[in-house]
Amino acid sequence: MSHAQVSGHQGSGTPWWHGAVIYQLYARSWRDSNDDGYGDLRGIIERLDHLAWLGVDAIWLSPTMPSPDEDWGYDVSDYTGVHPELGTLADLDELIAQAGQRGMRVLLDLVPNHTSSAHPWFADAASGREAEHRRYYVWADPRPDGGRPNNWLDFTGRPAWQWHDSGQYYLHNFMPGQPDLNWWEPAVHLQFARILEFWFERGVAGFRIDVANGLYKDAELRDNPPLDSDNPLEGVFGLRFVYNSNRPETHGVYRDWRKIAESYSPERLLLGETWVPDTQRLAAYYGDNDELQLGFNFPFALADLDPGRLAEIVEQTLAALPPGAGPVWMGSNHDLGRFPSRWCGGDERKIRLALLVLATLPGTSVLYYGDEIGMTDVDVPPALRRDHATLDLEGGADRDRARTPMPWDGSPGGGFTGPGVTPWLPMADPADRTVAGQRDIPESTLSLCRRLLALRRAELGRGLADFENLAVTEGAWAYRTGPVVVAANFTDQPASLPAEAGEVLLTTSAEQAPPSPGVLRPWEGVVTRRSGSGAGHDQL
Ligand code: GLC
Repeated sequence: MSHAQVSGHQGSGTPWWHGAVIYQLYARSWRDSNDDGYGDLRGIIERLDHLAWLGVDAIWLSPTMPSPDEDWGYDVSDYTGVHPELGTLADLDELIAQAGQRGMRVLLDLVPNHTSSAHPWFADAASGREAEHRRYYVWADPRPDGGRPNNWLDFTGRPAWQWHDSGQYYLHNFMPGQPDLNWWEPAVHLQFARILEFWFERGVAGFRIDVANGLYKDAELRDNPPLDSDNPLEGVFGLRFVYNSNRPETHGVYRDWRKIAESYSPERLLLGETWVPDTQRLAAYYGDNDELQLGFNFPFALADLDPGRLAEIVEQTLAALPPGAGPVWMGSNHDLGRFPSRWCGGDERKIRLALLVLATLPGTSVLYYGDEIGMTDVDVPPALRRDHATLDLEGGADRDRARTPMPWDGSPGGGFTGPGVTPWLPMADPADRTVAGQRDIPESTLSLCRRLLALRRAELGRGLADFENLAVTEGAWAYRTGPVVVAANFTDQPASLPAEAGEVLLTTSAEQAPPSPGVLRPWEGVVTRRSGSGAGHDQL
């Protein structure tokens, strides 16, 4: 077997992810190569040229490991395999190699908080209290009154404890088919170190780590206290996340994993799903720049498209991170929904402005598949929904809306699957946005996104560009990243360009006519040279 090589640091010791754009690709929804209605690895290989053309640096694949799919791969039954419906290990090797030939790296999704109940570890653990793998999971006796061990609720709001006929409850912070691993057990650490090494040796450039702040649970299994906030990052269903996640011992896991990541050349990336409400607690997962190299910024993603709030979070994040560490920004993912809907209500001007922000902030940016064409959430009728976890949840926390197939073109099957094949989730309306419909149109959102990524590479380059908020008002945001000044108008009225803005390198406006000099159209953003910073450049 040939192991794909991922090329090294850019010579200067700068990690490749500083300045990079990572593309989150939901493998089941990107391209179906065998007409079974589900996307697969060969489909991804077939369309890698789209990503190379777009200009992304790396791809994060949603879970690819074998799984009974109660939670679409976030219930893993074999950590060193490939889900047969997605392909084979040889396909994944080829995908890594082919991406590498196009200058792109591949990250996998790693799920260390829980396994599937179909994992052989759990099958053994459930066989009896003396089983070898019993301590791999969190088991607890009933309370003296026969009740559950504590008040913890799972992610659907039901009790997080499942009674098992081996005479104890087991913990599942997600669904009963996703028993939580017991990170107090040293053998669990050894198993995951091996899993990391298995994939790193195959050329995987790193992992997105699922529920990264979850691993350890309180040793005494204390009750969670009541919640006095409506911030879903603080807690849900009336209980604050205190004892079932965010435990201090979890940091030790990442210090160990960082050493493993750093023992490879180039260093492998650990990008955590850090579900925490503020930048201080986010920064804690970077440690002294000796834990995760990147942690997702949920306060940013869940903020409104409000310049004051976004500017504040960016500044606080940069101030909180340890020296040498970089932030990571995203607006959409497979859980939160798509930013073109959440932030922008489908308004193309706002979508283009948000893309500009994502492309020009310092550090690492993550685009979700479809962001590049401004894809909005798809209204999936209840009868067609596939996300078991949210099917019967009150309040429409429907995650399927952001997991529908990539609309490549307007043909039957949408370029995702063959004509006449029913895709696993309904396609977006092909009259809406497609890749083919935008690709050769200079004013399209796809063309804009590509220009933005090219400009990012050319102007911000590699490394951590320094950042400064220049002017933040109720409706406008101007900031400097490295050599460029970005000015963005978040209102329906024209606004003036700040004094620091120089020659315009790129505008988000799709209008042909130039604006009046020094004026931003409603919801227009521009990237400019700093005024007085010298030589001109062609407009991108
Ligand atoms: C993460 C995933 C989500 C999954 C959950 C349980 O939040 O992003 O999709 O349901 O973890 O693994």
